[in-house]
Amino acid sequence: MIRSAAILGTGMAIPPRVLTNADLAKLVDTNDEWIVQRTGIRERHIVENGQATSDLAALAGRQALERAGVSPEAVDLILLATLSPDMLCPSTACLVQAALGARNAAAVDLEAACSGFVYGLSLARGAIVSGEAKTVLLIGAEVTSRFVDWTDRTTCVLFGDAAGAAVLGPSANGRGVLGTVLGADGNGASLIDVPAGGSREPASAETVAAKRHVLRLKGGDVFKSGVRSMTQAVADVLKKCGLAKEEIALLVPHQANSRIIGAVAEAAGFPLEKVFQNLDRYGNTSAATIPVALHEAEVQGRIKPGDLVCCVAFGGGLTWGAAIIRW
Ligand SMILES: CC(C)(COP(=O)(O)OP(=O)(O)OC[C@H]1O[C@@H](n2cnc3c(N)ncnc32)[C@H](O)[C@@H]1OP(=O)(O)O)[C@@H](O)C(=O)NCCC(=O)NCCS
Repeated sequence: MIRSAAILGTGMAIPPRVLTNADLAKLVDTNDEWIVQRTGIRERHIVENGQATSDLAALAGRQALERAGVSPEAVDLILLATLSPDMLCPSTACLVQAALGARNAAAVDLEAACSGFVYGLSLARGAIVSGEAKTVLLIGAEVTSRFVDWTDRTTCVLFGDAAGAAVLGPSANGRGVLGTVLGADGNGASLIDVPAGGSREPASAETVAAKRHVLRLKGGDVFKSGVRSMTQAVADVLKKCGLAKEEIALLVPHQANSRIIGAVAEAAGFPLEKVFQNLDRYGNTSAATIPVALHEAEVQGRIKPGDLVCCVAFGGGLTWGAAIIRW
């Protein structure tokens, strides 16, 4: 009997071009010390002109399939979490399906901002356990650099481009996604948004001139609600799975700000040695942070088969979620 969905392989793609804090100090009134102290970020990677989210997503997806030993034809569902799609229509997932030659796969995007990959873990698990799908390629991919106001020092220092992916398949041996919790609060919609370009404020010369196609965030409020919702999500998912925090080998939090991660770790009772962090090198890559972190943690030997891993994220929506995986 299928009881869960196991992660069969992971992959990641980071564009080669590096943008350091010193580079940003040439664009806006900022400095390395402020950025490192307030966020923990030292550098981020940015795509070249002409590259889009589906390009990074396909690279990460291909690596995950190779590491899983799964052919593209064997995938029957592609779920792609992003807030920076190639275009409004068609979905980025369909573009990735074509790029990978995954011709038997259904393909759909999901938008839960930085929580997108954790939402995707829940949906992928549901599809596999119900028998709707056997092999799911779940990708978190972002090219947020196209949606950042490069003259606004309060946001442009935070984000980076990346993609991460995981192949999930049926598991009956206790491995896989043991449980998830998801949440949302649309009353906080205005805390993180890109106001124009949709049906509410279609693109026009005025919306472009008013810079309403870029990511805006109310940093202080996002900080506080992020700490609160991630701490609660960790407690809730542990309870749902009947596990104690001491049993978790590694906490993999959304990489937005090292102070947010520190506050969540402290409130949730995790020593920092058990908390994965790589945002110093990549910044906040939104839906890509968790799959990139899972991939790096495995490659670095920080998670081994049988280990319990807890992922937790929050983001625009507002949305949040946590998942426990037996690796
Ligand atoms: C954005 C964030 C780093 C700001 O840190 P903060 O400690 O709250 O700083 P504040 O916004 O209070 O700004 C403090 C001062 O630094 C200034 N400042 C802001 N950005 C700066 C920068 N890049 N360089 C230098 N100074 C900066 C502000 O203008 C402000 O100056 P003032 O005191 O003269 O008004 C922090 O709130 C954060 O990380 N929030 C969450 C953001 C996030 O993760 N969003 C994505 C959600 S997934």
